[in-house]
Amino acid sequence: MEPFNLKSQQWYVEDTALALIAREVGTPCYIYSKSALEQRWQSFQQAFKNHPYQINYAVKANSNLAVLNVLAKLGSGFDIVSGGELHRVLKAGGDPKKIIFSGVGKSAQELSDALKVGIGCINIESEMELSRLNEIAIALGQKAKIAFRINPNVDSKSHPYISTGLEENKFGIRMEDALLLYQQATELAGIEIEGLAYHIGSQITSLSPFIEALQKILPLVQSLKQLGIPLKHLDIGGGLGVCYQSETPPSPEEYIATLLAELGPLPLAIHIEPGRAIAAPAGVLLTRVEYIKKQGTQNKYFAIVDAAMNDLLRPALYNAWQEIIPIQPTVAPTGSSALYDIVGPVCETSDFLGKDRLLSIKAGDVLMIRNAGAYGFSMSSNYNSRPRVAEVMVEGKTFQIIRERETVEDLFRTEYLFTATK
Ligand code: LLP
Repeated sequence: MEPFNLKSQQWYVEDTALALIAREVGTPCYIYSKSALEQRWQSFQQAFKNHPYQINYAVKANSNLAVLNVLAKLGSGFDIVSGGELHRVLKAGGDPKKIIFSGVGKSAQELSDALKVGIGCINIESEMELSRLNEIAIALGQKAKIAFRINPNVDSKSHPYISTGLEENKFGIRMEDALLLYQQATELAGIEIEGLAYHIGSQITSLSPFIEALQKILPLVQSLKQLGIPLKHLDIGGGLGVCYQSETPPSPEEYIATLLAELGPLPLAIHIEPGRAIAAPAGVLLTRVEYIKKQGTQNKYFAIVDAAMNDLLRPALYNAWQEIIPIQPTVAPTGSSALYDIVGPVCETSDFLGKDRLLSIKAGDVLMIRNAGAYGFSMSSNYNSRPRVAEVMVEGKTFQIIRERETVEDLFRTEYLFTATK
């Protein structure tokens, strides 16, 4: 049985599949459910009903080739932010015409590579980027399809590090500058205007910031039309949150239906860039308890596990809360539950995966960290010279390694001793 039940959004804790994978593949490892990924993507698709749409999965959330391939097969487009992500999407079978390129700092090389493969749209974030792209497109004898990413100055009310739609953030173009830039762009030989984009942040758990942003943007769309600059699509970004703890984010259906109602009869295709809402609930991180120890005078224990902040950075970086539970019921040596901080082997006090968790666990138990399919592996690093962990995909009763655990040799494969002489 697949260890994920989409209806209840629960991984089966009792299921032996996770224990089997932990044994065969080892820990730590990320596990993704193929059907959960598909169903999350399809829930966005179904919400559009007859309205023209394009779902551009935000690759940064989880960029494993197998994950991208599952979504490409459903017909997904992709939101990329680097040349690396561009090449991953192409390698995974993504359609270049359905790729959109976001980001404030695209290099000349990245822009040129994107044009050469026939990218669907480049979201421009500054006047300088517009002129750089124009020159590159002219040199290649092409017209680059673009949208401007506008910063609607809306507070997404999520963590400050992942809010992007406020005036003081580095992202997008100021509302006041938008019309002039669009007009300038119509005069550039290497540029073809396709749309308008915005993205206000991530892990947004209520509809109001999304509605506020759209309400601010729509008059701009009308003004552009009046200036004779009609748009083909409106890219409303990503950002829909998931339930990590007790948040109650709108469902994809509710989110899309609300925004379509707000859009009214405008004949604009809607592009969206969800990352977390597709990938987070489809993945868990398995980790084994190595040691348990008591420290200080508090009635609290440390469970030292084999995963660390380099494997899952969200708790250390954003103080993010993710549920941690044993994959199989176990009786602690104390006979009852106790309070634990779940920490890794990395030499930093910020290296924790969860704090103050009431658990009944013992050394050797395998724990799962839920909702780890997004911004888990993709933000992992080799800090403390720790090889990056394996990734596994499950479908029905089968599972397959989709990324090998790195070896110690992988750690210094690209390094050399300094042998040059004076
Ligand atoms: N589009 C753009 C332009 C973005 O910058 C992002 C995310 C997305 C789409 C996808 O947003 P999502 O649907 O996944 O919320 N590492 C952080 C999240 C950073 C999000 C950055 N941008 C975390 O672990 O919470």
